[in-house]
Amino acid sequence: MNIFVTGGAGFIGSHTVLQLLKEGHDVAVIDNLSNSSEEALKRVEELSGKKAKFYKGDILDRKLLDAICEENDFDCCIHFAGLKAVGESVEKPWEYYNNNISGTLNLIAALKDHNMKNFIFSSSSTVYGEPKVIPITEECPKGTCTNPYGWTKWMIEQILMDIYKADNDWNIVLLRYFNPIGADSSGRIGEDPKGIPNNLMPYVTQVAVGKLPKLGVFGDDYDTPDGTGVRDYIHVTDLADGHIKALKKICDKAGLCIYNLGTGKGVSVLELVKSFEEANGITIPYEIKERRAGDIAMCYSDATKAEKELGWKAKHDIVDMCRDSWNWQSHNPDGYR
Ligand code: NAD
Ligand code: UD1
Repeated sequence: MNIFVTGGAGFIGSHTVLQLLKEGHDVAVIDNLSNSSEEALKRVEELSGKKAKFYKGDILDRKLLDAICEENDFDCCIHFAGLKAVGESVEKPWEYYNNNISGTLNLIAALKDHNMKNFIFSSSSTVYGEPKVIPITEECPKGTCTNPYGWTKWMIEQILMDIYKADNDWNIVLLRYFNPIGADSSGRIGEDPKGIPNNLMPYVTQVAVGKLPKLGVFGDDYDTPDGTGVRDYIHVTDLADGHIKALKKICDKAGLCIYNLGTGKGVSVLELVKSFEEANGITIPYEIKERRAGDIAMCYSDATKAEKELGWKAKHDIVDMCRDSWNWQSHNPDGYR
């Protein structure tokens, strides 16, 4: 198939582009490199032996999107492009709503005008807010987000559901990712956050590589087995495979489908630290700190729907994720720079 990937130079995008090329698909990427580097795509080429077309540009640029759609005959668009820092979204709500929502509306309009109505969207477990029932199924209550980033995900889901309702020619898959970590086992591509990382695994790897002195554990008084926050970490390569499986639904013209992509297993902050230490033989100094505002105690998926309907199941465990995150960080202490 010929696949249009927005945000394909980013963390999840680059791993998915790699899988797509390895599976024999043609790929064209648009990315404005606001949170990524073209080096990621060069390394994807080195790993796959195949080149993705690259358009450096913005999904807010309708003329560019039209030109790209004229030039290519896409079978599906996988839409990763978006801003994703929760804290920053509270500071800059307009930028988040504009980039994520206007960008998606623009993209959908260009695709529709070129009769390219197959679409896969990167949603997030954040749409479930503070979960009432765990493990979280796709039917659990949604739309109680606590920050603008989360709202953009929920609003885009709503927009896509309405677009499908009005025009059943669309095939749309909404993928709700849990907590992606890890890196391609080659150690050539991985997560490359700008500045001090907000998320747990990149923080841990930067402590391990000596860039940060110690990890702050945000709260040990949650109602969880060891008091620290529990999440469903998923290897980014498994996540990339989920998109390959979702393409099959697009081929089957399945209409609108929604899936959680997680492992179904909860891992606490201290368990992750211990797994990292055991997998890599490195001690991670840490101290217990105050809870982080807006954090929830526990969140993990029921991923059985994706297994039943997509034939997809996460293959990697937390030890693999810790090993591969460290393999990437230790060989690239400054990321792609
Ligand atoms: P990322 O920041 O590494 O990748 C996003 C890419 O989109 C970047 O390369 C960025 O430069 C590009 N981009 C942003 N705005 C753009 C625009 N207007 N035009 C063109 N390119 C633009 O993030 P990621 O972790 O790879 O996330 C990919 C998608 O998955 C995002 O939509 C994110 O919200 C979603 N998601 C991520 C996580 C996570 O924890 N990483 C969890 C759930 C959902
Ligand atoms: C974050 C996002 C969420 C997104 C999700 C997916 C926030 C507030 N939320 O959630 O919108 O969908 O990623 O990847 O950023 N922790 C520490 N010390 C640290 C960093 C984190 O103890 O330095 C703890 C957190 O309190 C949490 C766990 O580690 O219990 C995971 O945190 P993080 O990686 O930021 O992910 P989420 O909070 O799940």
